[in-house]
Amino acid sequence: MDGRLLVFSGNANEALAREIATNLRIGLGRALVGQFKNGETRVKLQDNVRGCDVFVVQPTCSPVDHHLMELLLLIDALRRASAARVTAVIPYYGYAKQEKKTSGREPISAKLVANLIRTAGADRVLTMDLHAPAIEGFFDIPVDHLQAAQQLADYIRSLNLPNPVVVSPDTGGVGRANRFRERIGAGLAIIAKQRPEPDVAEVLEMVGDVEGKTAIIVDDMISTGGTLVEAAQALLDRGARSVYACATHGVFASDAVPIIGRSDLVETIVTNTIPQTGNLTEARIRTISVAPLFAEAIMRIHKDLSLSALFS
Ligand code: R5P
Repeated sequence: MDGRLLVFSGNANEALAREIATNLRIGLGRALVGQFKNGETRVKLQDNVRGCDVFVVQPTCSPVDHHLMELLLLIDALRRASAARVTAVIPYYGYAKQEKKTSGREPISAKLVANLIRTAGADRVLTMDLHAPAIEGFFDIPVDHLQAAQQLADYIRSLNLPNPVVVSPDTGGVGRANRFRERIGAGLAIIAKQRPEPDVAEVLEMVGDVEGKTAIIVDDMISTGGTLVEAAQALLDRGARSVYACATHGVFASDAVPIIGRSDLVETIVTNTIPQTGNLTEARIRTISVAPLFAEAIMRIHKDLSLSALFS
């Protein structure tokens, strides 16, 4: 691959795209990404991309459908303008929680989104902490799947928390929490949760000793904040000394930020895969940048170098 390296962005997270480009020591590619008066998304590339190796940075965060459409149209425009290769950089993959049918007569939305991205013309995908790793297999093109665990663990280690125990807030996250525990050298506790209805979380049971310990809840995303706040309360009820939380994606739907602010969580750490608008400081939410990691991955893909070192 000897085409020039270019990075374009939609409107989903231009700050992250800009930071990635700065890390790569290039400017962002110029494109008009807006709307026609009838509400349809409008895209026009303003740079020549012929023969270039192009990366489009666009997390499909809220408004999800709108950002997804921008991504699809950017990819289509790049293809039609003769880019040599197009990589969809999707730091947060929306629709990931709909990766299987939970009852009859439902779509598998995460698979449909993968089909759309491929049909638009993406040659590869670069993403981070997919809610369900199986989504990687929904694509018939290469997918590089980064993890933010190293960045989050480095921050937690820097706090020198006494007697730490890593907590998975549901049984589906045990593998993730266990790998995190190994990184920071801590114990493990597991919560069994149920969802009586969509977006409502209830703690059923907990396995592991948390009494007198500093609990660190590790999750892939925080959406309504229900899982987190319920888990934090259950941990304090069982004698945890204090509770922290780490998650890659700060979706923060609805009133999640004030809900977290009113909780007893000491600090909640997320990355900048999704841009934030709420008052994070008041809610004791800290953001860690994953731009250097994405920039390194993009450089390695561009130069056909191995990415294995970035997955450890
Ligand atoms: C669930 O399986 C995920 O790992 C998260 O725990 C969940 O998405 C968080 O959602 P909420 O913040 O709405 O409880």
